[in-house]
Amino acid sequence: MAIPQAATMSERADALEEEMMRTLPDVPAKSVLYTSGEQDPRTTQMRPPAEEGQHFLMKEDPRLPQMPKKPTLLDFFNYRLSPSRNHLLQSATHALKAGCSEKVILACLLHDLAVVGFIRCDHGYWAAQMIAPYVDEEVAWAIRAHQALRFYPDEEAGYAYPELYIKLFGEDYKPEPYIERDYKVARAHKWYGTARLITVNDIYSFDPNAVVSLDDFVDIVGRNFRQPEEGLGYDDTPASHMWRTMIAPTRFL
Ligand SMILES: [Fe+2]
Ligand SMILES: [Fe+2]
Repeated sequence: MAIPQAATMSERADALEEEMMRTLPDVPAKSVLYTSGEQDPRTTQMRPPAEEGQHFLMKEDPRLPQMPKKPTLLDFFNYRLSPSRNHLLQSATHALKAGCSEKVILACLLHDLAVVGFIRCDHGYWAAQMIAPYVDEEVAWAIRAHQALRFYPDEEAGYAYPELYIKLFGEDYKPEPYIERDYKVARAHKWYGTARLITVNDIYSFDPNAVVSLDDFVDIVGRNFRQPEEGLGYDDTPASHMWRTMIAPTRFL
């Protein structure tokens, strides 16, 4: 199908989607969350397959890199995370160089897992749930807490309110009441220091020329992340379905 050159971006996107709907043997599905906001969720309709013999996709999306049958955490890094995974490697490298414990290094490596591979909103809460069955309780707790702690400085610990947040959210931004509540809880918690260290190492202006590599963390992950034998997603924990959703995000059901 020819797409007219003069079409607007959204017309071109619609035309491409139309083309895809017609040519892929199985039609990938979009969750309401994918488009909510761009579209009013009350009007989001899943169009039926366009051609005779076409069905909805009920497996991995063929447009995505194929994952191994028994995926490991590192496979998710390699096949399902956005380029911002570099931010995770940079934070973990910073923690490694600062001589932090393996728990803290792992927490830094995974703290924004949800942002770079799953769901951005409430990312600390999501990431904590995703990894909780596989890591020390303190690591998951700290990742959950980092979301709130990022908004509150602790000069003594070497953490100032991020300049970047002023740019991103404006001078007057005030965290939501639940964030403030969770900050207060975290501040009084025995693992506050661990969560605070995530924020101290959570940096965006780290040397841009620094070479960071997942290889530096393979052993730490091996010692501190309980990789399920069946593969992450195909095991049976309260988080398995989240990993499966990352494997096959456009599966119809
Ligand atoms: Fe974060
Ligand atoms: Fe971060």
